[in-house]
Amino acid sequence: MTNLANLNIQEMKPYSPPLEGRRSYEGKLLDFNERTVPISRKVIKALKGFMKKDRMQIYPEYEDLCEKIAEYSGVVPSQVMLTNGSDQGIDLIFRTFTTKGSKVVIPSPSFAMFYQCAQVEQNEIIKPAYQDDGSFPKTEVLEEIEKGAKLIIICNPNNPTGTAISLEEIEEITQKALSKKAMVYVDEAYFEFCKITAVNLTKQYPNLIVTRTFSKAFGLAALRIGYTISSLQNIEEMLKVRGPYDINMFATKAAEASLDDINSLNKYVDEVMNKAKPMVEDFFNKNRIEFIPSRANFLLFKTDNPPDVTEKLKKMGFLTRPRNGAIRVTIGTVKQMKNFINQFKNV
Ligand SMILES: Cc1ncc(COP(=O)(O)O)c(C=O)c1O
Repeated sequence: MTNLANLNIQEMKPYSPPLEGRRSYEGKLLDFNERTVPISRKVIKALKGFMKKDRMQIYPEYEDLCEKIAEYSGVVPSQVMLTNGSDQGIDLIFRTFTTKGSKVVIPSPSFAMFYQCAQVEQNEIIKPAYQDDGSFPKTEVLEEIEKGAKLIIICNPNNPTGTAISLEEIEEITQKALSKKAMVYVDEAYFEFCKITAVNLTKQYPNLIVTRTFSKAFGLAALRIGYTISSLQNIEEMLKVRGPYDINMFATKAAEASLDDINSLNKYVDEVMNKAKPMVEDFFNKNRIEFIPSRANFLLFKTDNPPDVTEKLKKMGFLTRPRNGAIRVTIGTVKQMKNFINQFKNV
């Protein structure tokens, strides 16, 4: 049959991450940068409580969660927009602020959704390259702003390199972009691990947008919930594009309970970042395995033939991802990473 989809969509390749078989896989899932331990009991209790209330027939309301997120992030609730995963936030930013032919700067390699959204909107994609050591191509980005870019993406920390830029650098880029009427979008999916945030700058810069997610450190990837922070005006514009009920109530209840249990989050983040990650880095250093120092809960390391090594690791009980001629491994707990190291020695 004739394909009646828009030509630009027909020309796209689908973004289909390798999810198949993950649910039944008996080893450790170190391939999607997720939380590697179950979510807190308090969140489960809140979800059960919501089911017992039997209010499934009512459309969702978001005020309580927006207030909690605002408090957690240090902004006012009207600066917060809930989204169905931060993926939806990314999509809304592209749909609201770009159009066919808009120049969009995506320092690369980076997260697949940026390219997908840009292609759907028929943007002109500009890809300044991260250096081999993972440093951000700031000079090129500033040049592209000068040349008329409409939207600049700063994935901070970047997936897959794990590297981050400082708040001062984000401000420098945002200031320059403002003078050229360009938008800056900072993806903070790994904020809880990295702790650098541009959220405060959204009070000062009308051209700045930040997205975050409950999918990573909070462990709610299955429920699909994230949020976007920007000026009231930008949020109002993006809300015209988002559906009124796109985020389900289970997700909001789980997110509220997660924010009420920050101690559990902090404990997990501390173990991953201050104990397990240094241990893996130490192992890599001692064995002369090259890796990029990361501000997130994953490490990108070099090996010969990454697809072959990921296959071997899979057989040994660890899913990892080949990425840009290297392997990206999610960092979990100390115990999990000790097991990973022990098996890795055999590869
Ligand atoms: C940099 C980055 N942004 C956004 C996301 C999307 O997260 P979610 O849609 O689950 O909130 C991911 C997921 O891997 C990511 O790595």
